[in-house]
Parts: sequence; C-alpha cells; structure tokens
Amino acid sequence: MSEPELTRSVWELDSNDYPASAAIDEKIRFLLRYAILAPSSHNSQPWRFRVSGNEVDIGTDESRWLDAADPTKRELYISVGCAIENLCVAAEHFEVEPRVEYHGETDTDTVATVTLHDDSEPSTHRPSELFDAITERSTSHDLFDDRTLDTAVRDELGAVVAEDDVTLHLVDEPAVKQSMSELQAEGDRRLMDDPEYRTELGHWIGLGALGSSWLVARIGQAVVTHLDLGDREAAKNSKLIESAPLVAVLTTESDDPMTQVKVGQVFERLALLATTAGVAVHPMSQTLERPELRTRLQGLLDSTAGVPQHLFRMGYTDEHPEHTPRWPLEAFLVDR
Ligand SMILES: Cc1cc2nc3c(=O)[nH]c(=O)nc-3n(C[C@H](O)[C@H](O)[C@H](O)COP(=O)(O)O)c2cc1C
Repeated sequence: MSEPELTRSVWELDSNDYPASAAIDEKIRFLLRYAILAPSSHNSQPWRFRVSGNEVDIGTDESRWLDAADPTKRELYISVGCAIENLCVAAEHFEVEPRVEYHGETDTDTVATVTLHDDSEPSTHRPSELFDAITERSTSHDLFDDRTLDTAVRDELGAVVAEDDVTLHLVDEPAVKQSMSELQAEGDRRLMDDPEYRTELGHWIGLGALGSSWLVARIGQAVVTHLDLGDREAAKNSKLIESAPLVAVLTTESDDPMTQVKVGQVFERLALLATTAGVAVHPMSQTLERPELRTRLQGLLDSTAGVPQHLFRMGYTDEHPEHTPRWPLEAFLVDR
C-alpha cells in the first residue's frame, strides 16, 4: 500500500457530519479528525491513536521525534498534549465527556488514555467557543503590529490555565523581551551551526510538512549550504520577539513527560482562545532547545518561576497564514 500524502483537505471538517447515532468508537474516530489539526514542532505530527470501545490510547510516534532539535523529547510530549486537548475540546462540543488518564514515564508507547462517555454531561471547564477555533487556528510567523493585548484578554488567557503545576507568565517589559530576543538569537546561531539540526530541519521542509510559504521561502535549500544562516535567522527571529507586545512562557515545577503533555494541553487551549480573540500565536523554541539557554530564560522570569517548557509570542497582525498540511487520520490509527 502506498504511503498516505500530506493534505490540506483535513481542515475541511463539517460538524454536521458528526455520527450522533453511531457507536462510540465511530464517534471517537470522527473526534480524532479534530485532534490531528493540533500544532506540533516542525509539524511532525508525532501522535498515534489506538481506539477500542470508548477508549483511545494516545502514544508518541518515535519515528517522528526530532532528536536533534528536541533531544529530551519535551516538544514531542507537548505536541501530543496539543492533540489531546483538541480531542477533549471536540468531545465536549458534541456533549461527550472526556476523562484523561496520564501514564507517565513508565509506558513510552501510550502517553495517556482518554475515555469518552457519551452518556454523561461534560463536567470540565473549557469555554465553548474553543471548538470553532480548532479549524481556524494557525501559527503566525509575521511581525506583529504595536497594538497591545488589553487586560480583559490577558485575564481570559490566565483563566483557562487550570492544571496544577503549569504557570503562565506573560512578559511585556521591553528590557526582558530584549534579553529574550538575545537568547533567541544565540539559540538560532547554535542550532544552525549544528549539522544534525540542519539536516533534520531540511528533512521536514523536504517532506512539505511546513507548507510552502514561510520557512521554505526564508530558508529553502539554503538549510544545508549557507554558512550565514544562523545569523540571518537570529536577526529575523530577534525582531519577531521584539515586535511582539507579549511573550508568553509556560513553566512547571516538574520536568517529566506527563507534565509536558499537560503543558501541551494548556498551550493549545491558550492558542484556541487567542484565535477566538483575533490574537496571533507563534511558538519559538530555539532558546528551550539548548539546556544552558533554557536555564538563562528561567532566570529572566520572576524568581518563583519553575522550569520553562514552552515559549510563544502573542500579538496582532492582519496576515492570515494558510493552513499547513496534515497526514490523514488513517496514518495515525494503530490496531490493538
Ligand atoms: C512544541 C512546539 C514547538 C514549536 N516550535 C516552533 C518554533 O520554534 N518556531 C516556529 O516557527 N514554530 C514552532 N511551532 C509551530 C509549528 O511549526 C506549527 O504548529 C506546525 O508547523 C503546524 O502549523 P500550524 O500550527 O499552523 O497548524 C511549534 C509548535 C509546537 C507544538
């Protein structure tokens, strides 16, 4: 059988097609079509789903792990957490209650099991408007204009962070953003200096996973050849951070896979909420991809901050990026 191809058609979902009278496993397969629209680092889509009755085991696909960019698998688990959050948001929309059981470090294949109950009212806290945002959301790579996020929007963002041990820091002080932009520049230079990182990035660009616009136009085939690439990325990305009215960092006390899955859920919830408020979101991971820079980032936050897990710019832009492609759901379904 031939390999499934990346496609943008997965974004054309119609909620009227929900199989309301079908068996729960068929409903789950429909809900998973929303899960795969989640963001993931390099759009690697490193998730796997095993559906049985009203349960879905959600695992990582190690063949899609970015071992050069993400040696500790932090981004792998965050990406899987984003998919879990989309599944939960979609389930609640269709009045199915999702219950997530996390498996922690002992079971590397199955990260979490989500049990779906279509006979009980959802009892959780997600705002209902998040559902429509799943098919609207995309990562922005533009310079943001100088409009700031008002207090009401910031408060709404803070209010959806419900997980114990995940803290949202919203940074708008110019001096701190400046220091963050310097760390970003250093991260870009170090990573682009690493042949394994460049080869890995080139692989994902070559697959077409990152779409045809932003990174390809900026880097393209130069990934493997241009020696000044690190400096160019550093200059561009520093400006992106400085242009952002807000830089958000999610921190945690623990630094393990289960916590990182929860960080992914929180991030995706924030990204969906931001989408409903017209706020653009752009994760920037280079600082976090090198341990020493990650420690220095922690030092820029308030003294009680835990370990930084995810950093993203937030702001306003008139540009609307086209959706990046996905592999179809069938590529991620595994049998028992
Ligand atoms: C854990 C994680 C790390 C990411 N890091 C970056 C990054 O460093 N730079 C960037 O431009 N996008 C980053 N992204 C965004 C992905 O590139 C993006 O989600 C993916 O290409 C799919 O596109 P979409 O979000 O528009 O659907 C990250 C996303 C996740 C979940």
